[in-house]
Amino acid sequence: MHKVRVGIIGLGNIGKHHAEYLSNHQVSRCELVAVCDAFAPLDRYQPLKTFADGEALIASGAVDAVIIATPHFQHTTLGMAALAAGVHTLVEKPISSHKADAERLIAASRQHPKVVFGGMFQMRTEPRYQRMQKLIQAGELGEVVRLNWINTDWYRTEAYYASSGWRATWRGEGGGVLLNQCLHNLDMLQWLVGMPARLRGFCQLGRYHHIEVEDDVTAYLEWANGANGVFVSSTGEAPGTNRFEIVGTMGRLVLENNQLAFTRNETDMLKFSQTAKQGFAKPEVWNVAIPFENANLPHATMVQNFVNAILDHEPLIAPGAEGIHSVELANAMVYSSLLGETVALPMDGATWEKRLNRLVAESKLEKQVMAVEATDIASSFRR
Ligand SMILES: NC(=O)c1ccc[n+]([C@@H]2O[C@H](COP(=O)([O-])OP(=O)(O)OC[C@H]3O[C@@H](n4cnc5c(N)ncnc54)[C@H](O)[C@@H]3O)[C@@H](O)[C@H]2O)c1
Repeated sequence: MHKVRVGIIGLGNIGKHHAEYLSNHQVSRCELVAVCDAFAPLDRYQPLKTFADGEALIASGAVDAVIIATPHFQHTTLGMAALAAGVHTLVEKPISSHKADAERLIAASRQHPKVVFGGMFQMRTEPRYQRMQKLIQAGELGEVVRLNWINTDWYRTEAYYASSGWRATWRGEGGGVLLNQCLHNLDMLQWLVGMPARLRGFCQLGRYHHIEVEDDVTAYLEWANGANGVFVSSTGEAPGTNRFEIVGTMGRLVLENNQLAFTRNETDMLKFSQTAKQGFAKPEVWNVAIPFENANLPHATMVQNFVNAILDHEPLIAPGAEGIHSVELANAMVYSSLLGETVALPMDGATWEKRLNRLVAESKLEKQVMAVEATDIASSFRR
């Protein structure tokens, strides 16, 4: 194979974006040949092959690979169908609506190890986060002891939530801000510092919007080595804040206002404390502004990597299986909040699935769907 024939399933906000850069040939050795949407009209995509059923597209033989950009629950069912058919699969985030489904999808992928399975976590391509990862991995920060991410600039209006029936419902989406908007940040958090050992979530359901799922979250996280952190997110706050602070024994890294600042301790703070002769002494610091460029077409970069993985076995930036961690964090924060207790990780996916099914069964929300003005999806990406 010299060229990967790709199909997109789900042509809403993000599916259209994928179709646009693929049609403009911004991914090499890749051709968009088919599209599918179960509800939206597809006339504008001709002469591409069009399908109203995702499984029919997968079985058509027309594609080598699919990008699944439907609502969350279908990521699992369509993903499993594609993997079983030997069709390389790039699934939008979250890889599934809940951990038990993510486990099913990953198990299907393990049964077909030659089929490439990736997740759309494009934040991993952004130079500012790559710089942070490099600093942490190189030990420049020392041992990470604390992090704080105030991540409340995911503002969404009532019109956004009313734009389609699946949004912000237990039945259609499986969660709110955690599973949808700031899932990218949860992936970033675990990508940078690994999974915590336990967490306590405080989630407010429908605090700012007429929705039944969480739109405001504060969570306390603890890692096995005693490091801790607070993660705050909301879709109701304007102007909102995006400040990510990671503290290690060698200093503090702050990403805010599109600037990355490293305040570096000359001496490890623990060693300094153990050896200093004065009670109020403190390590000297160096202030370092870390330059970075903004990412250019991060989704296209992810698809290029997916294509390269299919054709040349290039390692995936975001292997699909890694997508389980952000789903688990999102689920655990809501579950902990509903229980009023700390939840140990890894959590039991089946227990949350049962609780989620109860939330679905007990839902009284009557969703009002309305037509909304077309928006520029790109304005929602950079966080
Ligand atoms: N990576 C990113 O930057 C990013 C950005 C936005 C959305 N997303 C993710 O992409 C997914 C879609 O989000 P969206 O905002 O585009 O939603 P959307 O509602 O705008 O679009 C979903 C589309 O899927 C179609 N659809 C529904 N069920 C289907 C099925 N069974 N088969 C085929 N088509 C079906 C709908 O008709 C709709 O056109 C979600 O998982 C979301 O979290 C990712």
